[in-house]
Order: sequence, then C-alpha cells, then structure tokens
Amino acid sequence: MGITLRPLTAAVGAEISGVDLARLSDHDFLAIERAWHEHAALLFRGQTLSDDDLLAFSRRFGELDPPPNQERGRISPPGYPDVYVVSNVLDQNGDPIGALGAGEASWHTDMSYLDTPPDASMLYALEIPPSGGNTWFVGMQAACAALPAELRKKIEGRRIKHDGTYNSGGYLRKGVTPTDDPHAAPGAWHPAILKHPANGRPTLYLGRRRNSYVEGYSAAESAKMLDEVWAHTTQPRFLYEHTWRLGDLLLWDNRSTMHRRDPFDGAARRIMHRTQIKGTVKPIAFGVAA
Ligand code: OGA
Ligand code: MN
Repeated sequence: MGITLRPLTAAVGAEISGVDLARLSDHDFLAIERAWHEHAALLFRGQTLSDDDLLAFSRRFGELDPPPNQERGRISPPGYPDVYVVSNVLDQNGDPIGALGAGEASWHTDMSYLDTPPDASMLYALEIPPSGGNTWFVGMQAACAALPAELRKKIEGRRIKHDGTYNSGGYLRKGVTPTDDPHAAPGAWHPAILKHPANGRPTLYLGRRRNSYVEGYSAAESAKMLDEVWAHTTQPRFLYEHTWRLGDLLLWDNRSTMHRRDPFDGAARRIMHRTQIKGTVKPIAFGVAA
C-alpha cells in the first residue's frame, strides 16, 4: 500500500499512513516534507525505531540541534547526544532519566529562546502511561488568520521576548538565575508574526507565556495584550489532542505550532525520545521584504 494522508483537524495536523520510517524511500520522504510544510504536525502510528533509526529519519530534514538545557541539564541516552529524553522514570540512583517529570507541560514551542530556533522536533513513544499525558497541538497559522484585526494591529511589526529561564514544566533550567523580569531573562527577540519560510503564510509566534513581553508597551499593557492573544490562540477550534499509542511518532513544525502536555500519574512510566532539527534561517517578520 502507498503513502496516504488524513488531516487530523481543520487547523493542524495530518496522519501519514503506509510508511515505515526505518526504511523510507526518497520519494516518500519528499511527500512527508511537503505534508509537514502544509499541515505543520504529522503523526505516524505503529513505528518500530531504534535511536539510530530515529536519528537517521531526523537527519533527512537537516542538521540536528543538541537537546535543550533542562532542569537537570542535557539528558541523553548513553552514546546518543542528539537524542533528548522526556521521561518521569528514575534510574538506580533515583535520578530522572529525562526531563519534564509527570506534571503538566504548559503551552510552548521548542527552544524559541535561541536566535535560530529548531525548525522541527519529533517525539517517539517508547513507554506510555495507561491514561493521561496527552499532547496537544495548536495551529498557529489558523490562529493567526483568525486573529481579530484590532489585536493583530497591536502586535504586528513588533517583537516578542522568548524566555530561556524556565521550561514548560515550570522548572528552572540548570545554571540559570531565576527571574520574572523579561528584560533581565536570557532568551531571544522574535517577530510576533512570522513569514513561514516554506509556505510564505503568516504565523503567530508566541513561544511561551511566562516571561513573555511585547516590545514598545509597558509591562502591564504587554501582559494584558498577551493574555488576549493567548486566549484567542488556545481556543478549541485551533487544537488537536493526541492520545498516544506505543510506536507513535509525532513530528511538528516549531514555527507554525505550539504544544502542551497533560499531567499523568507519577507512579506510571512514560518514556519518549526526541530529536530537534536545527533551524536554517532566523525567524523573519511577515510583511517585511527579505
Ligand atoms: C517536547 C515536549 C511533551 C510531551 O518533547 O518537546 O514538549 O508530550 N513534550 O512529552
Ligand atoms: Mn516541547
């Protein structure tokens, strides 16, 4: 059977069937790359991938970024420095083998505190809890297209500060000084509305809410505006909720989606391996000549 595509929701995501990511033809890779640009998040069910397979598939998209610095630094499986482990499981010493624990991970896009954030991330399910731990996606191009004109006018042409102090689990990144001042915090400034380099469409680029700030406004004005933009963006009509099965791989575009994770029972085990595709260009403002 050949490769097929089924959209997951009107706003974001598609499921790709009929491919084994461990033995992918160039023809099918090109179809996947096109689908990724169009649908922003892609689901592949029923995969059986070693870390080498995961890396080989990831590298077809480009160079990889090393894992983010999380609450306990950068944690990778031995011998796989480009693989990032998201897990609540403890090792023999009682230390977590990965990041983010079992709590909620709040809305974010990955590593947008870098000047050139990763274009994509992919997450592969090795162990999942019996319930909870669903991962949600929001389509930022659909959210941008539906942004009320008044609100759009307030942020268009401005930059937003993307915080590098805290991760989505609310943990302080290792070695970073805690702060709630967006100006003092490490991070990067990016246009609030980007031009997607592959499909040319405008996309809202928010990063994460904590320590976010829109340039040119007072702290209070910026916070009020961001609350409105976030309330708009996270409406159910822009979302896809993913219930994991073993062997699922999800690939997402970090420019045109954000994601969050539901908490799950900390006594259950969840192990996911992730890679991150290095960005090729810095985020460009929509409407600005390149
Ligand atoms: C990630 C992430 C959420 C999850 O890997 O970037 O945010 O569902 N993970 O584990
Ligand atoms: Mn993430």
